[in-house]
Amino acid sequence: MSDTKQLEEIREKIGDTDMRIIDALADRMVLIQDIIAYKKATGIPILQPEQEAKQTKALEEYLKDNEFEEEILDVFKYIMKNSRRVQAKALFDYNVFLIGFMGAGKTTIASELERKLEMHRIEMDEMIVKKQGMSISEIFDEYGEIYFRNLESNCLIELQKVKQGIISCGGGVILRADNADHMKKNGRIVLLTATPETILERVKDSDERPILNNHMNVEFISDLLNQRKDKYLAVADVVVATDGKSTDQICDEIIAKLIAFDRDKEAKEK
Ligand code: S3P
Repeated sequence: MSDTKQLEEIREKIGDTDMRIIDALADRMVLIQDIIAYKKATGIPILQPEQEAKQTKALEEYLKDNEFEEEILDVFKYIMKNSRRVQAKALFDYNVFLIGFMGAGKTTIASELERKLEMHRIEMDEMIVKKQGMSISEIFDEYGEIYFRNLESNCLIELQKVKQGIISCGGGVILRADNADHMKKNGRIVLLTATPETILERVKDSDERPILNNHMNVEFISDLLNQRKDKYLAVADVVVATDGKSTDQICDEIIAKLIAFDRDKEAKEK
């Protein structure tokens, strides 16, 4: 047999193997759909670290004498990651807007949700900073708060184009009623709450919050929080208190509450 003919035969066999991998992955996706239906019905979290660890251990065991263990396990990392993405897409076919007072944990929780759900994360304040080429404090100092609030509203209008994003909003986003309308068009609003004491603890070392500059104390935070409280609650689809909870607990609670919210919404619309 000529060398080129032999090479072609090997390539053909690789092609066949790839098709078998595709068929197996397609079967796997069908099973993922069953998991989605189960998680939707029960509201249990998408990412189950113990389950993933158990699965990885079983794979490691199966592959222990395989010379390509490392490479094959790497492929499985992506299979699991994509499986989370497929599940999140089916459960949340909208944007998730995180709102709440400064220091409520929006940025931290958005990062963790991004990992858990494999959804795209957007920081509204970062978007504004990038666009203006200035820090939030510089924008406030140079142009004032109204100018900043206009930038915020424009951002929300722009974000209507985004699909399935986790959007961490600035703390003052609820000050304009129109903003909530923009968010609700293609999203759900999740309010994170915290006590003034917890908030102070979380923000006290930051100088990037012009509203709190020279007012880093519980009284000021408590007053401003009281002024805004009703506005936060009025627009929220889901409310999660963050005090004393781990990032993981907060994310799982958000996911379960969003699923429950959607289930109720669907039932009402029937
Ligand atoms: C603000 C909150 C800040 C930022 C700006 C104004 C507010 O965002 O948008 O300093 O009015 O509550 P964080 O809540 O992310 O700190």
